[in-house]
Amino acid sequence: MGRIPQSFINDLLGRVDIVDVIDARLTLKKAGKNYQALCPFHNEKTPSFSVAPDKQFYHCFGCGASGTALTFLMEFDRLEFVEAVETLARLVGVEVPREGGGRPQRDHTDLFEVLGEASRHFRKCLKASPEAIEYLRGRGLSGEVARDFGIGFAPDAWDGLRKALSRHPEGKLLEAGLLIRNDSGRVYDRFRGRIMFPIRDTRGRFIGFGGRVFGSDGNGPKYLNSPETEVFHKGRELYGLYEARRALRRLDRLLVVEGYMDVVALAQAGIANAVATLGTSATPDHFRKLYRYTEEVVCCFDGDNAGRQAAWRALESALPVLEEGRQLRFMFLPEGEDPDSLVRARGREAFERMVAGAEPAVEYLFHRLSDGLDLRNLDHRARLASLAAPYVRQVPEGVLRALMAGRLEQLTGLTLDGPAARTPAGPPAPPQNAGEARVSALSRRLLGLLLRHPEALLCVPTADRAALSSWPNEDLFIQVVKYLDDNPEADTAEILGRWAGTEAHRVLVELLRQPSALADAAAIQGEFTDGVTRFLALGRRAERRRALAEVHQAPSRENFERYWSALKHGGGDGES
Ligand code: UTP
Ligand code: MN
Repeated sequence: MGRIPQSFINDLLGRVDIVDVIDARLTLKKAGKNYQALCPFHNEKTPSFSVAPDKQFYHCFGCGASGTALTFLMEFDRLEFVEAVETLARLVGVEVPREGGGRPQRDHTDLFEVLGEASRHFRKCLKASPEAIEYLRGRGLSGEVARDFGIGFAPDAWDGLRKALSRHPEGKLLEAGLLIRNDSGRVYDRFRGRIMFPIRDTRGRFIGFGGRVFGSDGNGPKYLNSPETEVFHKGRELYGLYEARRALRRLDRLLVVEGYMDVVALAQAGIANAVATLGTSATPDHFRKLYRYTEEVVCCFDGDNAGRQAAWRALESALPVLEEGRQLRFMFLPEGEDPDSLVRARGREAFERMVAGAEPAVEYLFHRLSDGLDLRNLDHRARLASLAAPYVRQVPEGVLRALMAGRLEQLTGLTLDGPAARTPAGPPAPPQNAGEARVSALSRRLLGLLLRHPEALLCVPTADRAALSSWPNEDLFIQVVKYLDDNPEADTAEILGRWAGTEAHRVLVELLRQPSALADAAAIQGEFTDGVTRFLALGRRAERRRALAEVHQAPSRENFERYWSALKHGGGDGES
């Protein structure tokens, strides 16, 4: 997919009025030259949320939330960056252009349309089937919940849907996974005699279905899912995520269950934050998606052996995604129960207590790995350390990984072989003084350039590039450089997406809002490359000064060594 040109985003923010965007979602009151509202990002009784039309900015004096029309959409509607851009573009009635290069993106409007129409057809059929309605009632579902989830019914016929959607070409219906062509060339409805659960993406577009057998003459599997299509990927989609986001403004936690009925029954019981994978175990993509919308994921598993295996697979998928601040816990259900049966038998509160008592996945990892080991025995402890190390190393560097390494050390008395599992101490970050401030003003400038033109990094001389990539501080500019090291293809949208929902995101969006004067590629490249050289020089100088000050303060051998090393790495820059 081609990138969205930066000029378009600037232009778009110039054309949209933030007051319109926010007024469509909150009740704004005029107060002087600004507008006020109750802040949607925290609970309050008197309004401290303010929108400034002249600055095209909002700010909450209560919780500090602030940003542009774009960030507001991302936070309030919980959209991803590209979705927010598209929403704004629709508002002013323009198409989002994509720069050349990469595969031109196919527009799947036709598939969404066919699938949406199919869903309407299934809902109509449900209304016309007292038996199907009775079945859903018997499972405890109210009409309201059935409507929220768009539940429908596919009567037991070979061509019900095909006829209802006959105005669409057959090929389109086949492509949408709604019809099947058998070996002898006959084309017929895929879903027959089934209760239909529509699957929507996070923007509410219909992308597929799950159908549960209904009636005595149930043929085939209990649940039949849409096949993989251009718009439906089981490894990425989560049933119920759209509905959960719609029901709850804040998703403090998402619950991952196994089945369609579990999601719906929990919603019926007032637990609206459950989602289900679609007949597969949770993939890393699933977890990435989940953590875009919440910080805490609780997975429910059956209490049997199959459940424990599923938990292990989920753990393996989740570890590489467990960045700072993300929590994962596991909950095991009593044998023979699923969330649907459990919440119906014991009620919402009992279920919520079980969720609250779910075990942290990291604890689970160590528990399972120490199964059958006797930790009083040194050999066994060594075995645990070597079993656990590869798992710990999959967790991204950071506090969680350090905690896991610490926990392992506590259990085994052994440190992980090699320093890989520990957060590298590295040289300390440059100090807070004038030198540092200069570095960060410069780094903001560089960050602004890099954000608009990620390809500029490619032309930085190798030595400087390497120095940047191993730069010891946590400067956002450096974080973006490191991200681009791992994701060389990333464009502006993807970089923003990576930091979506964080403090850093605000800084990035703010940088993008500032007009950029540089037009031609050579000027951008020159500015960036020179800037990097200066950034490195200034940073090293600051580091050297700091090391020298330490030597003066405490002339220990350690401090001398740090100073020498700073001198060595500082190269020959003699400015003062
Ligand atoms: P279950 O067999 O546990 O069914 O499948 P359930 O959710 O309890 O459904 P009810 O209560 O009998 O109606 C759990 C999930 O596994 C997938 C579906 O996603 C289902 O919701 N599954 C199951 C399939 O994809 N195909 C099947 O044949 C069975
Ligand atoms: Mn069930």
